[in-house]
Amino acid sequence: MERDRWAELCKLVEKDDGLPTRPAGHWTQDKLYFWNGYVHITTMAMVGKPTWPGGIIYVDLFGGPGICTLKSGRRMPGSPLIAAYARKPFTKIIVCEKDEELAESCRTRLTATPARDQSSVLHGDCNELVHEVVEMIPDGALTLAFIDPTGLHAKWETIRALSAGRQVDLLVLFADRQDIVRNIELYYKQGEDSNLDQVLGSGSGWRDVWNQMSTWQPAHICEKLAELYKGQLSRRLGYEAFAEEIMSSARTPLYRLIFASKHRLGLDFWQKATKKYASGQMQFDF
Ligand SMILES: C[S@@+](CC[C@H](N)C(=O)[O-])C[C@H]1O[C@@H](n2cnc3c(N)ncnc32)[C@H](O)[C@@H]1O
Repeated sequence: MERDRWAELCKLVEKDDGLPTRPAGHWTQDKLYFWNGYVHITTMAMVGKPTWPGGIIYVDLFGGPGICTLKSGRRMPGSPLIAAYARKPFTKIIVCEKDEELAESCRTRLTATPARDQSSVLHGDCNELVHEVVEMIPDGALTLAFIDPTGLHAKWETIRALSAGRQVDLLVLFADRQDIVRNIELYYKQGEDSNLDQVLGSGSGWRDVWNQMSTWQPAHICEKLAELYKGQLSRRLGYEAFAEEIMSSARTPLYRLIFASKHRLGLDFWQKATKKYASGQMQFDF
């Protein structure tokens, strides 16, 4: 089976359409390349299967404008357009975006894709819109959800509302270096209302983990808090299979992608999708 269609999708968005794009680093290209590979493999395998009478649903809580641009000027599809161009189409594509102009740009771009009639862009804070999103997900569906904030913005209660009692595979940008490491002492003092508490969920016990750390090296803090987050997903929402990718710029780690599925097959698909970077280089091939 063809593994991904990255070059083909980049070609589809190469012409300037005059709408805003999202500036992106090469790590963003890798992130989107992985997500594209996973979306492609999963839709090819699952669309039309009787196991999913509610169909295959795509949810993007932090959708952006639909196109990203690298420093070189090269344009690439943002996550909602990756979903919209899936060879075997999603039953529904549901996108949230807080910024009005970006939401409108995403809507306009989706209208020009084969998925125009299946797509909805909701303008607003996904933490408030999540109940509307959930109402749009049919029973018996498999949902692929991308949670791609720039910091600690996706609240635990949002992830819970989306995933509890449903088959939802998640890719979460866990902003450990960008946000947690920089602000953790502030979050410690702020108590239950801190962004970190909101993301990890009440009663996560992260302060105990912090107090018992053998070292406060950034890599150790990130690892321990990612472990805690995965533990919450596992204990409270029934996730069973996890993977992580640490995304870096010039070998400096930036954030962690956490993939979570309630089924081993979801993890197999993710592992296939992340064997290679966008450059074609194999992972761990130094
Ligand atoms: C990292 S970008 C997402 C990029 C997108 N995944 C892509 O591939 O182009 C994060 C987006 O989330 C939006 N955003 C920030 N906070 C939000 C919130 N609470 N709810 C919905 N969107 C939000 C920002 O305006 C921004 O466009």
